[in-house]
Amino acid sequence: MGRLTGKTAIVTGGAKGMGEQTVRAFVEQGAKVVIADILQQPGEALADELGEQAVFVNLDVRDAAQWQQAVQAANDLGSLQVLVNNAAIMEAQTIMDTTEELFMRVVSINQLGTFLGMQAVFPSMKANGGGSIINISSIDGLQAKNGLVAYAGSKWAVRGMTKVAALEMGKYGIRVNSVHPGGIYTDMHGKDFMTVEQANESYKDLAIPRVGLPQEVAQVTLFLATDEASYCSGSEFKAEGGWSAGLRMAGLPDL
Ligand SMILES: NC(=O)c1ccc[n+]([C@@H]2O[C@H](COP(=O)([O-])OP(=O)(O)OC[C@H]3O[C@@H](n4cnc5c(N)ncnc54)[C@H](O)[C@@H]3O)[C@@H](O)[C@H]2O)c1
Repeated sequence: MGRLTGKTAIVTGGAKGMGEQTVRAFVEQGAKVVIADILQQPGEALADELGEQAVFVNLDVRDAAQWQQAVQAANDLGSLQVLVNNAAIMEAQTIMDTTEELFMRVVSINQLGTFLGMQAVFPSMKANGGGSIINISSIDGLQAKNGLVAYAGSKWAVRGMTKVAALEMGKYGIRVNSVHPGGIYTDMHGKDFMTVEQANESYKDLAIPRVGLPQEVAQVTLFLATDEASYCSGSEFKAEGGWSAGLRMAGLPDL
């Protein structure tokens, strides 16, 4: 018996990157999964590969009506008990170069999309006796970087909304937590033009001195989706190589 047997999950942005690895980890542990993404071709290919445990649904997370279709697809598959709000975009500009259009694009996918997802799954999770919502924030939802006013703002908002949802939904058996990845080797991180070794260079002063892999974050999300996390809600779970602990300093004693 898998750790998620009997549960159905929706994973947004599930067609590639961290979302794809989350879908694979969930299916491996017995879940049925709705792969919800705007990327139809890779999403359908992944669903075909995984067989009857997975279906692809076209979902733009900004669209409340499409959310209803994704929830319906999950209810058709089985007992909807897990939502991973993973879909996001990152745009880097200074505050002065961030147009209103760019700001709203980032916020509407990363923040509004997460809100609409939590709202859409609540009635089914409540009817099913509970569930787990995992909102993928970022290390940029714990601290800040120059050039990321829209992205970091949206990821701090995801972290805050997670706590509100945990408080409102807890009495219905629904746990809500945020996951905070550090630098993870996906397309968002420049995987298409950077080798792993090149990516590792940026993280050589971290406690874990390398870039992270999407399957490493998926394992944290998997834990939160299972009943093993039964007393965890409203919390932040980091998978960032110890980045927020600090950086190793040349010139100070070290092992
Ligand atoms: N890669 C990193 O270094 C890193 C670090 C911290 C946090 N994160 C977060 O991890 C999550 C996954 O990122 P990733 O690195 O796998 O990125 P990615 O770009 O590889 O994948 C993002 C996925 O989201 C989908 N998506 C984008 N807009 C969408 C929309 N409007 N509706 C539905 N789906 C949409 C994309 O099609 C894609 O499948 C994101 O929330 C991201 O902010 C990533």
